[in-house]
Amino acid sequence: MLPGVISPMLTVPSHIARPPYADDGVVPHWDEPLVKSPEIIERMRHAGRIAAEVLRLAGEYLEPGMTTDAVDRYVHQLFIERDTFPSTLNYHGYPKSLCTSANEVICHGIPDSREMRDGDIMNLDVTGYVGGVHGDTNATFCIGNVDAESRELIRVTEECTWKGIEAVRPGRPVSDIGRAIEDHAKAHRYGVVKAFIGHGIGEQFHTDIQILHYYDSRSTTIMQPGMTFTIEPMITLGDWRHRMWDDGWTAVTADGRRTAQFEHTVLVTDDGVEVLTGGEGAVSGCAPWAR
Ligand code: MF3
Ligand code: CO
Ligand code: CO
Repeated sequence: MLPGVISPMLTVPSHIARPPYADDGVVPHWDEPLVKSPEIIERMRHAGRIAAEVLRLAGEYLEPGMTTDAVDRYVHQLFIERDTFPSTLNYHGYPKSLCTSANEVICHGIPDSREMRDGDIMNLDVTGYVGGVHGDTNATFCIGNVDAESRELIRVTEECTWKGIEAVRPGRPVSDIGRAIEDHAKAHRYGVVKAFIGHGIGEQFHTDIQILHYYDSRSTTIMQPGMTFTIEPMITLGDWRHRMWDDGWTAVTADGRRTAQFEHTVLVTDDGVEVLTGGEGAVSGCAPWAR
């Protein structure tokens, strides 16, 4: 992958509520309760549902020959039509309304003038801000005919995400999630990216809860009903190490091999988990079994 040309930032109509960083790119941080009120949770269900719907529609829109900038314009419009602010826009200065991460790009790829090619794998990561809260979800899609090795990577990566989700349970440490993901990835001899992790989410895009996608005994935070966070493992065909492009955003595998990711925003419930970006209208990957 080579960087393309990044078009000027799009604007969002003024009737849509803006997150605090929308104008200057400066992200304030405040202490936000880890356990959300029922009223916030209801708003997060709505934000999650919209993010999931936009992700599905964007995935259906992809075609060989289309630029990722065109995908950005489409997603931007889908959010606006739903009275939702695209959370990534101007987040720490990020210039676009979603992340588009192809092939060896691990995450945070910036939509640009590059055309998607037959055989690419493409992660779309969409986050929407509506009702004062964020919903964050991503999936990896196939562009045209994709080789069997990449399709298997995508299939197992989605499985990893769901193994992580199934490990969510009140009273248990968040390290259970990382263990479940890492065990499954290792059984397939894949790598687990360490530098990018799941995060608490709510009124802020990223809050203090850290969800590692590998086992670490120091992840002792105990899951409690009402907590909301993302699970978003990045799984590699080869080595898990990354390097950054000069744009300061795009993370790629150091060995240049392909990588895939799936993400959901989840709520810890009294007896398990609710997937706020799942349910009807949500997407799954391009693997034949998932269609
Ligand atoms: N949506 C990404 C995540 O899953 C974050 C993107 S932040 C951006 O946490 F600034 F890169 F857009
Ligand atoms: Co996220
Ligand atoms: Co995301």
